[in-house]
Amino acid sequence: MSDFDLVIRGGTTVTASDISVCDVGVKDGLIAAIGAGLPRGDTDIDAKGLLVLPGGVDTHVHLDQPFSSGAEIADDFASGTASAAAGGTTTIVCHAPQTRGGSLAEAVAAYGAKAKQARIDHGFHLLINDPTPEVLERELPALVAAGHRSVKVFMTYESNRLADAQILQVLAAARHAGALVCVHAEHHELIGWLTQALLAAGLSAPKHLAWAKPMVVEREATHRILALAEALDTPIQVFHVSGAQSGEEVARAQARGQKAWAETCTQYLVLGESDMDRLGFEGAKFMISPALRPPSDREALWQLIRDGVIDIVSSDHSPLRFDDPRGKKQHGETAPFNKIPNGVPGLAARLPILYSEGVAKGRIDLRTFVSLVATNPARRFGLAPRKGSIAIGADADIVVFDPTKRMRLTNALQHHGSDYTPYEGLEVLGYPTATYQRGQLIFDGTNVLAQPGAGQLIARSAYAEIAPTGRFPTPFNPFG
Ligand code: URP
Ligand code: ZN
Repeated sequence: MSDFDLVIRGGTTVTASDISVCDVGVKDGLIAAIGAGLPRGDTDIDAKGLLVLPGGVDTHVHLDQPFSSGAEIADDFASGTASAAAGGTTTIVCHAPQTRGGSLAEAVAAYGAKAKQARIDHGFHLLINDPTPEVLERELPALVAAGHRSVKVFMTYESNRLADAQILQVLAAARHAGALVCVHAEHHELIGWLTQALLAAGLSAPKHLAWAKPMVVEREATHRILALAEALDTPIQVFHVSGAQSGEEVARAQARGQKAWAETCTQYLVLGESDMDRLGFEGAKFMISPALRPPSDREALWQLIRDGVIDIVSSDHSPLRFDDPRGKKQHGETAPFNKIPNGVPGLAARLPILYSEGVAKGRIDLRTFVSLVATNPARRFGLAPRKGSIAIGADADIVVFDPTKRMRLTNALQHHGSDYTPYEGLEVLGYPTATYQRGQLIFDGTNVLAQPGAGQLIARSAYAEIAPTGRFPTPFNPFG
């Protein structure tokens, strides 16, 4: 019997501390050795010329949950996690949605039953749609203590949105319990007003979603949530920053010393508002919230990444079927933009696109890429040190990535439940050739090998990154 169950040999390995050509030895699902000339493993893989990276960590994913539009999500845990594995992602955090009037604890239990089909490791954001005293004072602390260390709130969508007063209650409760609050920041009433004005003017095509949700909608809500979080000294993670102005709001908060962080998503880096103007109903394939932006915002996002203001790139995988009355065609092909459900799939495409558009095109370096897709999300969401790094003692979640492999993205490559990808035809340089979870091969470059049920729910302990700073706008500490 050899010392290692698996040795990945001679790849360019990005570890927590450096980039070097070395071997990675795996024993009992953990990384046991990193170095040159390791003895042969039971399985020995030649990774010469390939990159050996920590498995991707995608902390903004929607699977098997209701959409605000009433459309049917295209991925359950079995199909969604197959897609993740096929794209080099080994850990996801999904949304366990509370129903208004319902219990959060029961919602998490029901969602946990669905997640039993997961092929890869996962955690849950507690999606609070109804912050009653019972939820905030009793259920939330118990759920956080049980390892669900993030909360999600929406500032828009009729069935999800919380009023500012409710958001303040959630911020206070999350601060007390030790959970990170994540936010979908858009000004609900402004979207409603603009939507009605656009429809009255006969402007109802898919592309007009971007006119109903211009950047000011996102900028204002981002500014507001940052202000509320600052006043309560509660760390905050702004989801899907889509362009310059909301990114600048985050940068200003960070400069003030606030624990305020931001992600953007793959789609905001490569797709744009002109995609919503494609012929006929095709534009519906690109309808998401926040809306896609002009090219100048894409360039601004890359700069915000290089400046470290945005330090996570997630997928916001929100898969709908296109040619389906339960999907994008819920109200037919002539539906006005406000009746077309929002959301795009993107779990499998995240690593290949970010590597190709980022590293291969010289916009970011390899270390930044790894930080954006694995190390930072793992750290921010309390999954480290188990996840997000190639380090001794960490889970052997590894993606072997061929930086010379050219691929044209197709829907079949995504291994998801949707019947389309918004990235169809996009040529990428660099692609995963193997994905391992806890030392097991779960994607061999063509087929997903992980079975439903193989994934584990990761309980997250209290962690320092999201501890409050202890600073308030006045000498008064409202929490005593
Ligand atoms: O467009 C996005 N990001 N998601 C849609 C979510 C919903 O519930 O409609
Ligand atoms: Zn989302």
